[in-house]
Formats: sequence, C-alpha cells, structure tokens
Amino acid sequence: MDDVRRWQVPGRVNLIGEHLDHNGGAALPIAIDRSLLVKARRRDDGVVNVWSRGERASLNVDVSPGDVTGWSAYVAGVVWALRSAGVRVSGADLVLESTLPVGAGLSSSAALTCGVALALDDLAGAGRSREELALVAQRAENDFVGAPTGLMDQYAVLFAQDGHAVHLDFSASPPAAEAVPADWSDDGLVLAVIDTGAHHELAGGEYAERRRECAEAASSAGVDSLAAIKLDGLLSLTDDTLKARARHVLTETTRVRGAVTALRRRDWAQFGAMLTSSHESLRDDFAVSCEELDVAVDCALASDALGARMTGGGFGGSAIALLRPDQVDPLRARTEAAFAARSWAPPHVFTVRPSPAAARVDRGDER
Ligand code: GLA
Repeated sequence: MDDVRRWQVPGRVNLIGEHLDHNGGAALPIAIDRSLLVKARRRDDGVVNVWSRGERASLNVDVSPGDVTGWSAYVAGVVWALRSAGVRVSGADLVLESTLPVGAGLSSSAALTCGVALALDDLAGAGRSREELALVAQRAENDFVGAPTGLMDQYAVLFAQDGHAVHLDFSASPPAAEAVPADWSDDGLVLAVIDTGAHHELAGGEYAERRRECAEAASSAGVDSLAAIKLDGLLSLTDDTLKARARHVLTETTRVRGAVTALRRRDWAQFGAMLTSSHESLRDDFAVSCEELDVAVDCALASDALGARMTGGGFGGSAIALLRPDQVDPLRARTEAAFAARSWAPPHVFTVRPSPAAARVDRGDER
C-alpha cells in the first residue's frame, strides 16, 4: 500500500477572539492533540469513495452544490471547490479515522475540509498554497454545505505551530498569522476542554443572524468591518441589539490584545481574567452562549480555574478552562454533578495541548 498518503489534521480550540474573524478582527486559536487522520489513494476513474465511522459514501468528481447532503457533503464540497479553483481531481479513495469529537465545537468540519483539500491537492500534484487551500475549505462549507463560517478554523488547522497559539489578523487579506508561545504547562497549568454535548439545532441560523447583525451595525456606524469600530461609532448606534453586538466586537478586540500580551509575559492571572470576561461578553452582548456552556464555565471558576469561557461559534459545543492539573478531576466531578442535577447527559472533560498544524505523516508516525 505504498501509494497511500496520510495526513494528520488537528482540531482547534480558540483561546480568545470569538466572532471576530467575520468582522475583520483578530483571533488566537491553538491546534489541539485531537485529530483526524486522512488516508488517501489516487483513483483515475472520476470517483471519490470515503469511508468514515463504519459508513461509506461515493461521489463523482463533477459533483455540484445541492447534489450531496450529510457528512459526505463536506468532502464533496472540497472536490467541487478544488475543481472550481482549477485543480484536476481525478478521483480518490479516502479513509477517515478520528480522535476528534464531532459537533463539540472543536472544528471537526474544518479538519475534514482542510484534510481532504490537502490530500486531493497532493494527489493531483497541484501544489496549491495553504492560503489557497484554506479558501477552498471555507468555500466548501459556505457554498456547498451552506454553513456561513469565517476563516479562523481553517487557518488554525493549517497554520498552527507546536507549543504555540496563532495570532490571526483578519483585517489583512490574506489574513496574517503570527505564532505566540503558549507555554502555560511550564508554569504547571493545563488547558481543559469541557465538551457539553449540547448541539442546538439553531446553530446555523443563529450564526448567520449574528453575521447579518454585525454587517448592519458596521454599516450604521460607517465602518467597513465591525472590528474597526471605535467608541464614538459604538455610541452612535441607536438599536440596542446592534449596540450590544458591536460592544462585544469592540471589547473582544481589546481583550485579544491584552491576552496576547499576557501570553507573552506568562501572566496567567491576567490571561485567565481575559478568558472569563470574553465569556461574559459572548453571553450577555453577543448572545451566543447557552445554559450548558454557562454552567460549564461557572463550574470551572468554582473549581478555581484562572479563567474559563465558551470556545467556537457557540449555541453548544465546548468550554475551556485554564487550571492546575490537580483541579481537573474536581472540575470533572463538579460539572458532571451540575449536569446530572439538570438531567443533562454527562459532559466530557479532557485536557489539550497546543499542537502542530496539519501535516503529511508516514505510516506509523501518527500522533
Ligand atoms: C465558528 C466559525 C468560525 C468563527 C467562530 C466564532 O467556529 O467556523 O469562522 O466565526 O465560529 O469565532
């Protein structure tokens, strides 16, 4: 099986800078040590077969939006977007193996689209840049699957560095990416993920609604993108909802700057405080949290975490907390009890470490 190529593709956790990518602002994600392994072999008959979690899907390379639904639409979307970008996809057999939970807000979809884009580009010998492949992956989600996401997840998956967070600036085109050491473990801390297991069905629609509100707030305040808003622009907004959305974007932009400085100084108390106030802003001003995420964050803070917040788009998914390793078990017990008391399914609590971007691996070298 020498003709099989393997790609290891991480999920991501965004440390701070939430809902800023689609507003021309900044974000600070890490790639995590939960990943998708894509095994790919070229075919020349115009067929793409995909095996994942005991299921098999088959599609033709001339697939168009609307032809495929369900999980294989992410694969079909990449085939379509790559071909639209001029890459000759001749067919492939793809086997997907994952340690990344799906629907947990850890970017399993960006791992899938970026992994398939890297693999198919490689099989075609096309040599497209990671910037181009990020756009292909985003197009697959936006225009084929119908999820109007920004570019943060794809950039985290494709540009992260081991032991670092990646400071992304979406005011530039293509976005700028700068690695910042994320070495809390040297100071005896860990980053825990609390996967709440909540998946609120409205997620797609509410995400699109927030994007519309942000665009409206930006145009009312006379700025090209909302992350460029200043205090006078914020004060000029008369609609309370738009003002609250803009307040999140303005204050979150300041918090990202503070968090990057705190990360560089290894000032974990300050960094943690930024995480917690980001959560409050997402809950109260941007209105993308939910009860499960709020309970998870409250449990983390009650377990003496230095800071905690929801991560990702919201309406379910995961929260993160920065804390000492000996606080993880108490956090798990506290969160499980709080969830059980509300008759919610048990959450999953695990730690993650800043990990490398997607890369080709040799057989047996998978992490
Ligand atoms: C989802 C989207 C990203 C970003 C986040 C919120 O993860 O895919 O583009 O907008 O939500 O920060």
